[in-house]
Amino acid sequence: MYSIETRCIHGEQHNNPDSNCSISYPIYQTASFSHLTPGHNPTGFDYSRESNPTRRYLEETVSSLEGAYDTVAYASGMAAISAFFEYFGPGDHIICGEDLYGGVVRLIEQVCKKNGYEIEYTDTTDPGNIEKHIKSNTKAVYFETPTNPMMRETDTSAVSQIAKKHGIILAVDNTFMTPYFKNPIKEGADVVLHSGTKYISGHNDTVCGFLCCKDKALSERFRLLSKTTGATLGPFECWLVLRGLKTLAVRMERHRSNALLIREWLENRKEVEKVFYAGSGMISFYDSSKEKALSILKNIKLIIFAESLGGTESLLTYPVIQTHPDVPKAQKDRLGINEKLLRMSVGLEAACDIIEDLKQAFEA
Ligand SMILES: Cc1ncc(COP(=O)(O)O)c(C=O)c1O
Repeated sequence: MYSIETRCIHGEQHNNPDSNCSISYPIYQTASFSHLTPGHNPTGFDYSRESNPTRRYLEETVSSLEGAYDTVAYASGMAAISAFFEYFGPGDHIICGEDLYGGVVRLIEQVCKKNGYEIEYTDTTDPGNIEKHIKSNTKAVYFETPTNPMMRETDTSAVSQIAKKHGIILAVDNTFMTPYFKNPIKEGADVVLHSGTKYISGHNDTVCGFLCCKDKALSERFRLLSKTTGATLGPFECWLVLRGLKTLAVRMERHRSNALLIREWLENRKEVEKVFYAGSGMISFYDSSKEKALSILKNIKLIIFAESLGGTESLLTYPVIQTHPDVPKAQKDRLGINEKLLRMSVGLEAACDIIEDLKQAFEA
């Protein structure tokens, strides 16, 4: 098998005659596919909600990068995560990491609970906590590593041993690390989730999500759900993501090297109380006060004050009101998501320009 840098570029396609040997995989912008005669459909494609060649090529590429049996491409990360929670039924108990992207907390609290699930949050950075919470009706463990925005890390291999012992599904959100830095399936996870909007597509121009499955049984269930509920990714977006993926390896190297320089710079500023970093291009930090955090947001010129992450442009985000408004205040306080916290997605600009912009914003 080729190394990941090569698979990002070539995927599984090598001079595919079905696409006239085009180097860039074609966009099959069609809703439906003709059949030769009833019951005779040699292409295997019927209708693009269910499957489409451009989407299938993207899904095969992501499966290859994640070491998955199968991957479903969704219209957003939240659509993929909703599909994951849809897998369960009334009375099922699911253990979730306590520090999750705020949209997932909103999904659990305001949408999933009506389905009769029992959901408990715990600190998954200590796998022993997970084992303590397992009951006879526990069906899954779900966490992000590192977490958004506090960058807390969970040992996927250690949790997978516990999950296997109890016969429960382990699902890991790998958005921050990407398959370039981490492959949860190789560490024992059953399902991997991505907001592909972030590093996977990488250019702040496409919203998408992925659900990668370890085996055939999971794939069959999620394929049934995706073709039925229908939040699959359109052909043009699939092509944009394929284009973005070609540079995943070089982008991730540069995100990380820039982030390491910026982390060091932040750690040496007296206005910064604490820096949180767990790899990739993401950094969170506490400023000395809420006023300082707001002043930095107001004064940045090159860096953009915006939600999202993982793209070419450096972004600063204010998690307390932007990404985590729906997380109850007590939970935010416990996790440390407060008004002094800023989250930075370090982009691909020259590190000296990013640092220069931070410097003038800190000193404004
Ligand atoms: C870790 C993580 N998972 C999932 C999501 C949701 O993805 P999307 O915005 O593509 O729906 C986000 C969004 O910020 C995220 O940060």
